[in-house]
Amino acid sequence: MTWVLAICNRKGGCGKTTTAVNLAAELGRRKIPTLLIDLDSQGHAGLGLGVVAHDRAKTVHALFSGETLDLDAALIASVAEHVHVLPADRAFEGANPHCDVRALDRLIRAPAIADRFRAVVLDTPPAYDPLLVNALAAADAALAPIVPHALSAEGVRQLLRIFYRIATTVKPDLDMIGVLPVMINERIRHHRAVIEEIARELGPEKLLPAIRMDIQLAESFSARVPACYYAPSSRGVQDYKVLMDHLIENLALRGDV
Ligand SMILES: Nc1ncnc2c1ncn2[C@@H]1O[C@H](COP(=O)(O)OP(=O)(O)OP(=O)(O)O)[C@@H](O)[C@H]1O
Ligand SMILES: [Mg+2]
Repeated sequence: MTWVLAICNRKGGCGKTTTAVNLAAELGRRKIPTLLIDLDSQGHAGLGLGVVAHDRAKTVHALFSGETLDLDAALIASVAEHVHVLPADRAFEGANPHCDVRALDRLIRAPAIADRFRAVVLDTPPAYDPLLVNALAAADAALAPIVPHALSAEGVRQLLRIFYRIATTVKPDLDMIGVLPVMINERIRHHRAVIEEIARELGPEKLLPAIRMDIQLAESFSARVPACYYAPSSRGVQDYKVLMDHLIENLALRGDV
């Protein structure tokens, strides 16, 4: 069964793409056939895996413009082993507000993806828009990266409201795995205080193992490869491995992976 994980937060610059790229690469490193779908028309997730859609090639965004999508032509092998990318259309100007909330779910559950990939990772745009709703409607599980600063707890509350609205309308069995603190420096007291506040509010089980601040995650992105290929012994790579162990352990209990 294909397991679909959405990485989402409508706030910009909070580590969504870095998390999507490095988790996809880590799944691939564990020989799990993985597809990363880049729903953000900035196209950063594709870039982070060394993939750019060819001009005029069909992208995942064709779905939201009512076009048909030939998956054989659209899926591109990434620089990471066992990871393919369905790239973004960097000229995409916004989804039709009436687009079908289940378009992405249908695409992923069709044999061209479901029979080929064991895991699908969705990188989403920093917005509450039809693409985010499609991502959550297609996902088995979602996680939200956050940078711990003064307004993070409020951002998490807003995100949970969106999440529960979608869970009660289009996806009742959607699993909010939790909040992922990123760019953490544990010596900063304020970081610890924000994380503790979120843990109190959501329950400690909803707090995922954090990703520390690591410049090599940013550098690997500029080098167009996931960090496990660029700096395999870096802190960031270690942290994403610990996170993946945690996800697999918890999801394996439920028979998902
Ligand atoms: N743990 C980390 N340590 C250091 N830098 C990081 C870390 N995680 C992400 N970054 C850097 O922070 C910036 C924002 O990260 P990223 O692009 O992943 O966020 P995003 O949520 O996808 O942004 P957007 O909302 O624009 O899509 C990038 O320059 C990235 O390289
Ligand atoms: Mg991004």
